[in-house]
Amino acid sequence: MIVIENQRDLSKHGNKVHHSALVATMGNLHEGHLALVDLAKKKADQVIVSIFVNPLQFSPREDFAEYPRTLSEDIKLLEDRKVDFLFLPQEKMFFPQGKENAFTIKVPSYLADVLCGKTRPHFFHGVASIVFKLFQFLKPKIAIFGEKDYQQFLVIKEMVDQFALDVKLYKSKIIREKNGLALSSRNRYLTKELREKAHLIHRYLLLAKKGMVEGNFDFNFFKKESISSLEREGIMVEYFEIRDNGNLALLENDFTKGRIFLAAKIGSTRLIDNLNIS
Ligand code: PAF
Repeated sequence: MIVIENQRDLSKHGNKVHHSALVATMGNLHEGHLALVDLAKKKADQVIVSIFVNPLQFSPREDFAEYPRTLSEDIKLLEDRKVDFLFLPQEKMFFPQGKENAFTIKVPSYLADVLCGKTRPHFFHGVASIVFKLFQFLKPKIAIFGEKDYQQFLVIKEMVDQFALDVKLYKSKIIREKNGLALSSRNRYLTKELREKAHLIHRYLLLAKKGMVEGNFDFNFFKKESISSLEREGIMVEYFEIRDNGNLALLENDFTKGRIFLAAKIGSTRLIDNLNIS
């Protein structure tokens, strides 16, 4: 695996990198990321994985400093998967004049200020800014993102469309533990006991979907029931909403294009999940 750390390495390997499929990550890789790599391998002859813990997507009160950094394990996993390139940029490459003086992308409010954006107002601007730069540096022909971060996927898709960026996006389905818990780097913050409880997040999404598919379209009923049941288990729900798959508009009556989104705190760990019901 060739490691690219700076502009010089990039100029040397650029041509091959441009034909690759990119999997952008913040490291601390798990099976969910490896599923993205597997899809990337199907879509292109060469795969590049980037690892960069992006400070722009954390607020000062969030876990940037504690975010798990496990580079040597990550490298081993990527080598085992026969990934061709690892992009491991220094902050300087993204922010030559410092973070405060970086050019950034402003994501429109209908995507940036709903769901996760309500409690993390900086988040999607930070993601879009860094992904834009990744696309500019690496010019991959394909990029793969995970469906677990569905809102992030839509933000990136809209950015690619509006800026006419020359990259084809794919989303890779959510990888879950046997009990249904969606894989996430933040799961490692959970004790064994909380990890067992955390699968309830997926369970209540499934129950709501099942009810609605069977013809009970009273989403508010499922929402209320789920929130109170989860809260009885100590899982504090931040949002439980049904929104349009394409533009995240809140749905009231017609759920045919719907997706249910859930964010909750279990202990001090915030987890997200979603389920397509259309
Ligand atoms: O999903 C992530 O890991 C990050 O948000 C991303 C896309 C790598 C941007 O920093």
